[in-house]
Amino acid sequence: MTDKALRFAPYVPRPPERHAPASAVVAEATGDDVPALAVLQAGARGGSAGDWEDRIRRARSGERSLVVTAKVSGEAVGYANVAFLPEHPADRAPAGSYLTGVTVAPAWRRRGVARLLTLRRMEWAGERDSAVWCLISARNRASLDLHRQLGFVRVLFGASFQGVAFTGGEGWLLRAAPRPS
Ligand SMILES: CC(C)(COP(=O)(O)OP(=O)(O)OC[C@H]1O[C@@H](n2cnc3c(N)ncnc32)[C@H](O)[C@@H]1OP(=O)(O)O)[C@@H](O)C(=O)NCCC(=O)NCCS
Repeated sequence: MTDKALRFAPYVPRPPERHAPASAVVAEATGDDVPALAVLQAGARGGSAGDWEDRIRRARSGERSLVVTAKVSGEAVGYANVAFLPEHPADRAPAGSYLTGVTVAPAWRRRGVARLLTLRRMEWAGERDSAVWCLISARNRASLDLHRQLGFVRVLFGASFQGVAFTGGEGWLLRAAPRPS
């Protein structure tokens, strides 16, 4: 399967041209933000907006979880979440705060939006834990670079962690020190 079919951004470590960073505002997503975020997720990741709405509403109502949105001039251009997960009984991924789901609308990519969404979630994790975790497909080189730049290191390689099978076959469990807020 190609990276396009997997819906990963094409890996371009040195883009021929650069856009100015987006002046995005990152904040906790409200109930009113959910429909637009669901459309964003369905467009970028596939699936129906209705299913995404249910998933995002569930994530928002989780006791130890945070859903964040990035907006430019009031338009939602990015989505992400972080949640506390217990140690997984089968794959032994440890308990902790896990970053999941970061997505930026294609027209707004490579302007630092995912970096802002990730820093915000690392601060949230820093208020609760001494480490922050994420799971990234080995095929998703753009996401691996994004997280490595923010201090994530690879801990374990496998087909699934926290019961989540990797799109593309195999991937990494990564860990970083959370950011102080
Ligand atoms: C991965 C994704 C979230 C990055 O969003 P973004 O806002 O474009 O990322 P940023 O602009 O904050 O990039 C920060 C760094 O990440 C890396 N990066 C981001 N996109 C990249 C790409 N396409 N190729 C190579 N490196 C990339 C770079 O190191 C970049 O720093 P630089 O621009 O100074 O070189 C976005 O491409 C996306 O939504 N992809 C589809 C969903 C997905 O795969 N999510 C991750 C799941 S783990």
